[in-house]
Amino acid sequence: MNISTTTGLVQGVGQAHAKTILLGEHTVVHGTPAIALPLPALPVRAVARVLTSGETPLAAPDGQFRFSAGDTPAPAGTLSGPRVAVEEALRRWGLADARVDILVDCDIPLARGLGSSAACAGAAVRAVADLYGRVLDEGTLYDLVQCGEQVEHGRASGIDASTVLAAGPIRFHEGRTRPLAIDMDAALIIADTGVPGSTQRAVAGVRRVLEADPARARRLLDRAGELIAAAEDQLATGRAEELGATMSRFQELLAELGVSTPHIDTLVSAAREAGAFGAKLTGAGLGGCVLALTTPAAADTVGAALRHAGAAQTWTVTTGSLAADVPIRLDSGIGTHA
Ligand code: PMV
Repeated sequence: MNISTTTGLVQGVGQAHAKTILLGEHTVVHGTPAIALPLPALPVRAVARVLTSGETPLAAPDGQFRFSAGDTPAPAGTLSGPRVAVEEALRRWGLADARVDILVDCDIPLARGLGSSAACAGAAVRAVADLYGRVLDEGTLYDLVQCGEQVEHGRASGIDASTVLAAGPIRFHEGRTRPLAIDMDAALIIADTGVPGSTQRAVAGVRRVLEADPARARRLLDRAGELIAAAEDQLATGRAEELGATMSRFQELLAELGVSTPHIDTLVSAAREAGAFGAKLTGAGLGGCVLALTTPAAADTVGAALRHAGAAQTWTVTTGSLAADVPIRLDSGIGTHA
């Protein structure tokens, strides 16, 4: 619903949230399925308004980003994907001459494999649709977010665009998603390496590895497919210990693809030494975040071990809270997101 303020200003608002990939990052670009979980406790909120002619937007308040879209000069640096998504939306709606100011309040750390670019694009497109009273169906929203993601990733599978807009865990395969059944009593710890990754560089590096040796590429992708199928079954039947082992095997595969780093390896080992069932990087790697699976009772110990080993912050998500429409509670090493 667009908001008329006391100044007569009309604003549109939109929201999306973070995501984490449980299994299948990178191999999903090359045809395997992937399993991903939305993280509604790490939201992005966007507010859109029309820029009047000659108006230059104010700097964004601390902790927020601002970008303009439409008939304005291209801003340098961050949020190029969201801007592309909004400009494509304006073009499709016959509003190519519009100038829109978008203020984005993003709780998701940027470039950490948690879907910040897709979530910012999703929230921004929703805000602009709200501003102009456009009805956005799911398919159109996904397409628009994907336009921005192609800019950010080089070649985006669509898993980020799907998960930051999804209400519950999903299985994603070649552009199609289906809700995933989870019946498991466990906790996932997300640990931030504190190092920004580059999805585009990581995706290009994996492509080089796979193209260099097609027979090895086939073996790696087949193994990935088997691990992802096993994980789906383990999630549905509550076999957390086995799922942890599957995650650790997927981490070995990601390391073979060249996207792990010594810092990620240290965090993965620290989680396992502290009793986690398994751990792996999540997202594109080369920085970003590590995901560890443990019992709810051991979550604090594993989180503390990860921070002690150098994680900048950690969040805890219980698998019981991942079912669609149940709010997820996250704890951070440096604050609490509820
Ligand atoms: O950009 P990230 O870190 O959220 O990773 C996206 C997942 C990849 O599989 C690496 C890329 C893709 O488009 O699927």
